[in-house]
Amino acid sequence: MRIKELLAQSSEQLRDVTDVPQKEAMILLGEVSGREMSWLLTHSDDEISSDERFEQLLKRRANHEPLEYILERASFYDREFYVDSRVLIPRPETEILVDKAVELAKTLPEQAHIVEIGSGSGIISVMLSLLLPKARFTAVDISVDALMVSQENAQKHGVNDRITFIESSYLDGVQGEIDMIVSNPPYIANKEPLGIGLSYEPSLALYGGNRGDEMLCHIIDLFLARNVKVLACEMGYDQRQPMNLYAQSKGLAIEFYKDLAGLDRGFWIKEKE
Ligand SMILES: C[S@@+](CC[C@H](N)C(=O)[O-])C[C@H]1O[C@@H](n2cnc3c(N)ncnc32)[C@H](O)[C@@H]1O
Repeated sequence: MRIKELLAQSSEQLRDVTDVPQKEAMILLGEVSGREMSWLLTHSDDEISSDERFEQLLKRRANHEPLEYILERASFYDREFYVDSRVLIPRPETEILVDKAVELAKTLPEQAHIVEIGSGSGIISVMLSLLLPKARFTAVDISVDALMVSQENAQKHGVNDRITFIESSYLDGVQGEIDMIVSNPPYIANKEPLGIGLSYEPSLALYGGNRGDEMLCHIIDLFLARNVKVLACEMGYDQRQPMNLYAQSKGLAIEFYKDLAGLDRGFWIKEKE
């Protein structure tokens, strides 16, 4: 069979799964053949023999498994991170949280202690430690599996000696003063039905409680209890009003940021003056 015929046949299997079936079929074929997409395009009349591994990967994608888990990699902030089903797949909107945290860190001493709650694949702590070279980082996650992935990513990007990884629920295992908390916690309501793609991701990384914002509220409580100077969190697009009310009930001034689609996506709070 010729490459172009194989790609046409394979993309047909992915038609209901993705808006770009041809591109994804090519990515999977590139993965198993070790060829760049540009090579496959310029050699589309070449003969190719059937490949069992390609069929397997195609089948996984046809079953709606996210491409990132199949390829075991995801791009974040123009860098490549290792991912598998132990961690949430990095979302582009989380890059805005990283930018916001960098901006807020400018109001802190250079050697600030920054703690991430729920580090997952480690994308936030790894990027922040690259962008804030003098700051000290602690990354906590309740999932030992996720911590293994984040440590692998810290190693991959050469910052494993800059981040202390701790298995902990919230700040239970974190000693000493904290200058900033940054978090993209689970914030989906427990009963919310998930799309088929999301069902592959760890539920521990998705569900935030009956309302969905319980973890966010608890993180605000910890910000106060531990006298932290700055807090920056990602949240759901519809959580601005409850977070605003909660912060106000604690006497805190909360500010919100939007994602690239113009939706409310996160907030930050500074210590009371
Ligand atoms: C939405 S994911 C975020 C992962 C990563 N920071 C990112 O932005 O892609 C939330 C993470 O919080 C972790 N988590 C859930 N409950 C936690 C808790 N009580 N304490 C610490 N981490 C928790 C989950 O295991 C998961 O890795």
